[in-house]
Amino acid sequence: MNVTIKDIAKKTGVSYTTVSRALNGKPGVNQATMERILEEAKKMGYQPNAIARGLVTKHTNTLGLIIPDITNPFFPTIASGVEEAASKNGYNVFLCNTNWNKEKERAYLRLLQERRVDGIIIKSTSDNNDLHEYITTPTVLLDSRSDEGKYSSVETDNMRGGFLATKHLIELGYKRIAYIGGHANSHSNTTRLEGYKQALRKFHLEIDEEIILYGDFKMKSGYQLIEKLLKSDNPPDAAFAGNDFMALGVLHCVQVFGLNIPRDFGVVGFDNIPFAQLPQVQLTTINQPTYYMGKSALELLLEEINCGSEKMVKRVILEPDIVIRNTTGPKGV
Ligand code: RIB
Repeated sequence: MNVTIKDIAKKTGVSYTTVSRALNGKPGVNQATMERILEEAKKMGYQPNAIARGLVTKHTNTLGLIIPDITNPFFPTIASGVEEAASKNGYNVFLCNTNWNKEKERAYLRLLQERRVDGIIIKSTSDNNDLHEYITTPTVLLDSRSDEGKYSSVETDNMRGGFLATKHLIELGYKRIAYIGGHANSHSNTTRLEGYKQALRKFHLEIDEEIILYGDFKMKSGYQLIEKLLKSDNPPDAAFAGNDFMALGVLHCVQVFGLNIPRDFGVVGFDNIPFAQLPQVQLTTINQPTYYMGKSALELLLEEINCGSEKMVKRVILEPDIVIRNTTGPKGV
């Protein structure tokens, strides 16, 4: 049975208020009484009721992190950055995985706020335009941005990343570069696609909508989309995939078609997940400062939690860089 403050007060003959102050480290309790209360609480096996404490202090020292796909290695790295910074600041983190389901995302937002988390970090399943209808607690957008400037956010310059990836393929002599994107409406997708198009325009190459396809940021969709294009009458000779997970699917399919990578077909991904550097993968990709993105999102959130009414909306944009490995090389050589 849970031991309560009332039980300890009864046992020690000290008032409820004094016991509560002693257990919450509040001033106004003399040293001898404090020691007696803490000793008795330990003996009785007292466990502070975090929710009840939260009701009094208005803080639970808990945060929510909502991500869309726990199977994508990008997000566990994000979660590490968030959790390690949170822990250093005395916060615990509830991790919620929506699997790109908007209803699930809304349910988690309700649940976290019912549990009185002090703040939320979210990579939303789509644009963030109606988030304000569901959120009343400090919130930072991850890997995204708030077009109306309602929320602070942290993202990589995806457009720059998409441009670097496509420019690299063009400079190696690939002529018909497919874009294998993720969820069409996601911020990650629309911005990387724009960078892809910017590079094609800069080098006066055609933007052919026939070879711009959208998957779900998972490996299987990378395989299926490039398979469709390789079976077409006018197949691509390279692909820029909207993330490494899909790039791995593209690599698998291109190898099944018997094409030599990179001589016949070049592939660039996005994220630089740990698998990308495996000897048998060696994926050329756009590196995101993923761990630092999670850490930065947490720091922005703590700023907002602690700033009270003087909330400052900040948009942090991190720099991508290209990591050249073996899935790209001079075309035909
Ligand atoms: O969430 C899908 C993708 O968007 C991830 O792979 C990562 O690139 C993120 O920015």
